[in-house]
Amino acid sequence: MTMQRDLSGITPSGHLTLGNYLGALRRFVERQHTVDGFYFVADLHALTTKHDPAKHRELTTSTAALFLAAGLDPQRATVFVQSDVPAHVQLAYLLECTAHVGELSRMIQFKEKGGRPGTRASLFTYPCLMAADILLYGAQRVPVGGDQSQHVELTRDLAVRFNTLYGPTFVVPELEPTALTARVLDLQDPTRKMSKSDSDDAAGVVRLLDTPDVIRRKFRRAVTDSEGEVRYDPHAKPGVSNLLDILAALTGQGPVSLATTITGYGQLKDAVADAVIAELRPLQERHDELVADRPELARLLDIGRQRARETSTPVLDQAQQAMGITR
Ligand code: TYM
Repeated sequence: MTMQRDLSGITPSGHLTLGNYLGALRRFVERQHTVDGFYFVADLHALTTKHDPAKHRELTTSTAALFLAAGLDPQRATVFVQSDVPAHVQLAYLLECTAHVGELSRMIQFKEKGGRPGTRASLFTYPCLMAADILLYGAQRVPVGGDQSQHVELTRDLAVRFNTLYGPTFVVPELEPTALTARVLDLQDPTRKMSKSDSDDAAGVVRLLDTPDVIRRKFRRAVTDSEGEVRYDPHAKPGVSNLLDILAALTGQGPVSLATTITGYGQLKDAVADAVIAELRPLQERHDELVADRPELARLLDIGRQRARETSTPVLDQAQQAMGITR
């Protein structure tokens, strides 16, 4: 029996957050043992909004190092950088020729940001690039947070449409139900998700590379409520419940039972900060080693580049054949 194939990416549009870790990266590391995993740094996706080339380069390298530092093993999983595999862009164009303007206009991210002056055309078309990322590898499952599920749905629609128009070519990925709940909220505004594209000094965003002092300060300042009672109630007490959710994710205990063991908000904040700092310490050390040893980082990413190219080339060929652009 062949192993199930998973694929997922993270866009280096800012320094990765605790949300990216708990919602995505840590799950990749867990799943690499049981699935045939493809995990990549979606560097081309970061070009859809205003960017600085030097910072982009640094973020791409640092994000790739974080993938490995978190425990992704290039011998087990395919770990790569999107732009190392030109087939992504090639297939994206074929999918732009499959997608309709109407469905792309309905994508939430485009509706939110697309009205601004200077909006890049790629912000409109990038769901086709994301669909290409997925379809190129015949991925059955796409582990992502709930904010990305609309894109996976579009990918399914495009795959089905392409297969119907041009003959069976793509595996139609499943929508992963568990992904819809995992969400780490902003510590200053626990009604919205923690986002890496917030400004670098945003107090509500915990970055994977923040120092222990900074992490502790951000948790100490986290917004709670005036009730003073530690209780898990995401609706009435979003700040406290978010802290309990983070602690639960890191300790493997349930947030409801954790709440009964903690008496005050100060104790809760210290416990979460301690758990986050302890979890991130080895990851930060390994990240710094890899970033300081570029040849080693390049060697590890080369393994993934080769495997990603080998896997995706036949699928791109088949899609080109099906559309009639090869002779
Ligand atoms: P991105 O870079 O915005 O997010 C990467 C992953 O992190 C999850 N995530 C969160 N999970 C929990 N709490 C949060 N606060 C939080 N913030 C982010 C996201 O759901 C996601 O799983 N377009 C994609 C990247 C991408 C991709 C792909 C993903 C490109 N091609 C193909 C899967 C398959 C993106 O921008 O994710």
